[in-house]
Amino acid sequence: MTDAVARLTERLEGRVPKIALVLGSGLGGLVDEVENAVRIPYGDLPGFPHSGVTGHAGQIVAGDLSGRPVLMLAGRAHYYEHGNAAAMRPALEALAGIGIDRLLLTNAAGSLREDMPPGSVMMITDHINFSGTNPLFGEQTDRRFVGLTEAYDQGLRAAIERAAEATGTELHKGVYMWFSGPSFETPAEIRMARVFGADAVGMSTVPEVILARFLGLRVAACSVVTNLAAGMTGGELSHQETKDMAPLGGKRLAAIFRAMFADAALDG
Ligand code: HPA
Repeated sequence: MTDAVARLTERLEGRVPKIALVLGSGLGGLVDEVENAVRIPYGDLPGFPHSGVTGHAGQIVAGDLSGRPVLMLAGRAHYYEHGNAAAMRPALEALAGIGIDRLLLTNAAGSLREDMPPGSVMMITDHINFSGTNPLFGEQTDRRFVGLTEAYDQGLRAAIERAAEATGTELHKGVYMWFSGPSFETPAEIRMARVFGADAVGMSTVPEVILARFLGLRVAACSVVTNLAAGMTGGELSHQETKDMAPLGGKRLAAIFRAMFADAALDG
């Protein structure tokens, strides 16, 4: 058992969540809905990231959501912070080590579709890694050749769709394209992304999906749209806009997760 697994197990005080939820921009408020909650600062867990991005705290909140055990990761490390695509690897390894078998990822994203405006929620059905990097660079075993044909789990996707329907929440579906950031895309890059088949662009999630599949976790991911992508409106993009607009879609996505965790069929 690694130090992180031992420490996390001890701090969970008998809780045994099977599902972890990574809270991106706009979803942070969900931690306040966790019942029987224990809060564990990343700083107490060896290898967990020290996230420096405004709007991202760094702690685990574990307890129950809609009566089902959950472990929330409030705060993540991004590739653009230090140029390390594997920054979340120790944290995800620790989660796998305590028995987490499903990972739900969320993020803020720019939309490439006029019919998917700010405030929309998009379930990611597939991704394009346009960063030029990979969190498994340096991995020496043949396990590094991870298949991504079914990266986004069919069963979890079906559960998200059921939850959206049950709550009357419109759920878009699409392809998420990972740009390294931290600068936003150019209008030319967005036109390219559209030709390549992307529906949304963002600066996170894809490395975590690759790492999670490497670790054998089942994965699903959803974006909250904070803006139309570069060049689609007159204005310039900003991180402030991302932070201001994320709660809009975040509220919708929170409703979906509440219903999803109440769904007895989630374990099927
Ligand atoms: N581009 C990249 N990342 C983002 C965007 C965007 O337009 N909006 C929110 N995160």
